[in-house]
Amino acid sequence: MRTTTLGATGPQTSALGLGCMGMSALYGDADRAESIATIHAALEAGITLLDTGDFYGMGHNELLINEALRTAPAAHREQALTSVKFGALRTVEGGFTGYDGRPAAVKNFAAYSLQRLGTDHIDIYRIARVDPDVPIEETVGAIAELVEAGHVRHIGLSEVGAENLRRAAAVAPISDLQIEYSLISRGIEAEILPTARELGIGITAYGVLSRGLISGHFTRDRKLAANDFRGMSPRFQGENLDRNLDLVEALRKIAEQKGVTVAQTAIAWVAAQGEDIVPLIGARTRARLTESLGALDVTLDEADLAAIEQAVPADAAAGERYPAAQMAHLDSER
Ligand SMILES: NC(=O)c1ccc[n+]([C@@H]2O[C@H](COP(=O)([O-])OP(=O)(O)OC[C@H]3O[C@@H](n4cnc5c(N)ncnc54)[C@H](OP(=O)(O)O)[C@@H]3O)[C@@H](O)[C@H]2O)c1
Repeated sequence: MRTTTLGATGPQTSALGLGCMGMSALYGDADRAESIATIHAALEAGITLLDTGDFYGMGHNELLINEALRTAPAAHREQALTSVKFGALRTVEGGFTGYDGRPAAVKNFAAYSLQRLGTDHIDIYRIARVDPDVPIEETVGAIAELVEAGHVRHIGLSEVGAENLRRAAAVAPISDLQIEYSLISRGIEAEILPTARELGIGITAYGVLSRGLISGHFTRDRKLAANDFRGMSPRFQGENLDRNLDLVEALRKIAEQKGVTVAQTAIAWVAAQGEDIVPLIGARTRARLTESLGALDVTLDEADLAAIEQAVPADAAAGERYPAAQMAHLDSER
């Protein structure tokens, strides 16, 4: 497994990370035993970065990771890095009602996460979305105090725009910005990515397959469960879905010429954008994980990159990446 360092001050990590969200929430039901087997297989393959959020299944995902790490060989467990998001406020019914980045809340969230994860520290800790009522300096300052106390190793950010990147980095070293980045979500390229690079902040890219949309496996007639985010995502609706799947077919031609899969091409494209970018793979089965790992062996040369750019131009996606109410929480889209 290739490794890289997250930003100028972050930890050394595998070149791909495993995002565990779909094992507990947002993409319909998941199989617990298969989820744990997938985490074990990822660790076995050399993936060291496990990404979660305390709100993924309201603690379910952290407890799942706890179990997976407890039942993994000691050598794999010791290498694993936990990247945890916090701050989302939930309802009993599962709704999202906002974010809380007040220092006392940050420390409260961390106390619960440490308990659920069964560890004495979190490797990277970040608020999922900027709390508009709390200056980012205060939220990051509270995490910096957790670092000082030994409960957290590194500070991350999520879906933050260039200005807040600068403000946060002025408070304490930031290891990485977690943000959506894929062939069809290229908003970071204009300002956010150059700013992160200037500040020595790495990128952990999520939605690299646009939540499965550009994986090559998603079909027009796929029935989504009521608790599947994709049922509400603009990119998966009606004509938008048709247009986006046409892009996938254009990408499939290039993948087939190279003898690789569409998902591998999409992951390899993100990885090819810089060594400072670590794609977070949302695999929740061993089969999907194996496919994703294959992306590490895909080399895209200048001609491949140009062909991909032509097949899927930067602004070609139809539909926003989140429903309007959730777009409003994205500091990165201001
Ligand atoms: N910071 C943030 O705001 C934020 C937001 C979202 C996610 N994240 C993190 O990023 C991680 C990845 O995000 P994501 O799940 O949206 O990413 P993704 O990789 O774009 O989508 C994952 C989904 O794609 C489908 N898929 C099809 N082929 C696949 C393959 N070969 N490998 C993996 N998945 C394949 C799977 O759906 P099916 O199983 O249904 O086929 C899977 O659930 C999450 O787990 C979470 O940790 C962070």
